[in-house]
Amino acid sequence: MHLIEEVAEYYDSLAHGYHQRFCTDCDNDVKDFSEIRSLISNLFAGCNVLEIACGTGYWTKIVANTAESVLATDVNGSMLTIARKLLSDYSNIEFEEVDAYFLESIPNHFSGAISGLWWCHIPKAKIHSFLNILHSKLRPGSRVLHICQLEDLDSKNHTLDSDGNTIALRKSDSQLYHILKNIPSEQELKEILAPAARDIQYLRYPVSGLWSVTYSIQ
Ligand SMILES: C[S@@+](CC[C@H](N)C(=O)[O-])C[C@H]1O[C@@H](n2cnc3c(N)ncnc32)[C@H](O)[C@@H]1O
Repeated sequence: MHLIEEVAEYYDSLAHGYHQRFCTDCDNDVKDFSEIRSLISNLFAGCNVLEIACGTGYWTKIVANTAESVLATDVNGSMLTIARKLLSDYSNIEFEEVDAYFLESIPNHFSGAISGLWWCHIPKAKIHSFLNILHSKLRPGSRVLHICQLEDLDSKNHTLDSDGNTIALRKSDSQLYHILKNIPSEQELKEILAPAARDIQYLRYPVSGLWSVTYSIQ
């Protein structure tokens, strides 16, 4: 199976218990999370935001609290079904089943974009084309935020492929999956974003094990 499809299938298999397993502890008092929530609330206040790989909608909800609208997308209908149910009180959120690498069906009028815990799953060879497609959906001056992990806590089975991608072995439903887990350094991120972005700001959240990068589209 191709690495990109394997990531999609792995999360499809996890969708049922995903929110309970990965998203409920984040709503505690950890300072990192309150900082990230404030960052999101301020960054996207009044914006029309496109979200990539929304999963069960953990970040979607935070964005929707201050944004004018959110179009939350994910390749897995299984994830979107749960997100729709959890966020049914929000009239400013729409959901669409879309592959992050093929955003043709998405309009190009957004003033903000977010991805959470998605960057690590992008193959190195696809990063520029993914960013080009994402940025083409945004108006000049739009604000973008990517949040992802500082390290993979389960790294004992990591391997490197010939393109320099880190591949982690994960098991779900007694099937083994080869999951892309690329963790960029601050320097790498800034080099990747430099051609398209200005005001690039990278932050580390050591307690929650996350990084964030914000920038504006030129
Ligand atoms: C680690 S989860 C993150 C979910 C959510 N953003 C969060 O932080 O809880 C990765 C998400 O990427 C989605 N995904 C996997 N492959 C994708 C693709 N090609 N296009 C869009 N979404 C994809 C999965 O369905 C899953 O919801």
